[in-house]
Amino acid sequence: MTTLTQDDKKRAVARKAIDFVPDNALIGVGTGSTVNFFIDELARIKGRIDGCVSSSDASTARLKAHGIPVFELTNIGELPVYIDGADEINHSLHRIKGGGGALTREKIVAASAQEFICIADEAKYVAKLGTFPVAVEVIPMARSLVARELVHLGGHPEWRQGFVTDNGNLILDVHNLEILKPVEMETAINQIPGVVCCGIFARQHAHVLLLGTDSGVKEIR
Ligand code: 5RP
Repeated sequence: MTTLTQDDKKRAVARKAIDFVPDNALIGVGTGSTVNFFIDELARIKGRIDGCVSSSDASTARLKAHGIPVFELTNIGELPVYIDGADEINHSLHRIKGGGGALTREKIVAASAQEFICIADEAKYVAKLGTFPVAVEVIPMARSLVARELVHLGGHPEWRQGFVTDNGNLILDVHNLEILKPVEMETAINQIPGVVCCGIFARQHAHVLLLGTDSGVKEIR
C-alpha cells in the first residue's frame, strides 16, 4: 500500500467532494487547508455552478481569486450542500471545528444547507472528541466570565492571543474537556452568556464524511 502524505489525502477528498456539487446551484464553502484544496478543484468546474456562499474572509478571497462569484447568505434561501473540513470527527459524524477560528460563520452556513459534506484526512477520525481543543467564540467583554464557566464544565480555556475573528470577537481554546455527550456539551457551552458559538458541531451532524486514507477515499454515512 502506498503511504500518502496528509496533503495527498486532503487533495483526494477535495477532488471527491466535486461529485457532491450540483449543477446550476450555489454551494456553501467552509474554511481551512482541506477546503482550500476543494476551492481549487471547484475552480476547474466553476462554469457549471452559479457561485458560492463563503464561511470566512479567507475562503471568500480564495474563491474570488479564482473568479468564482461569492454571494451574501442573507440574500439567499437554502443551499443544497455545504462542504467543509473538521479538526476531529467521530463515528456519529459529530465534529470539533474552529481551528481556523471561522466556527461561527461555518455553523451558520452549515445550518443553511440541506446536506453537510465533511472532508477530512484519517488523522481527524476519532472514537471520542476532545483531544483537539474546542474553540469558543466570545464577545470580548465576557472573556473572563466565559473562561470561569468553561472551567466549571471541566475544561482548561486558553485565550488565542492576537487573534480576532471575522466577526470582531475573541477565541478561547478549551483543552481537556471530557466530551462524553457532544450534543449536551455543545448546548451547555452555547448557554454561557457572552458565547457567540462553540466549536462542537453535534446538534447538526454531518450527512457524509469523505475520509482520506492510504487506501483511498472512504465514504462514511
Ligand atoms: C476552520 C475549521 C476547519 O475546518 C478545521 O480547522 C480543519 O482545517 P484543516 O482542513 O486546515 O485541517 O473548522 O475554522
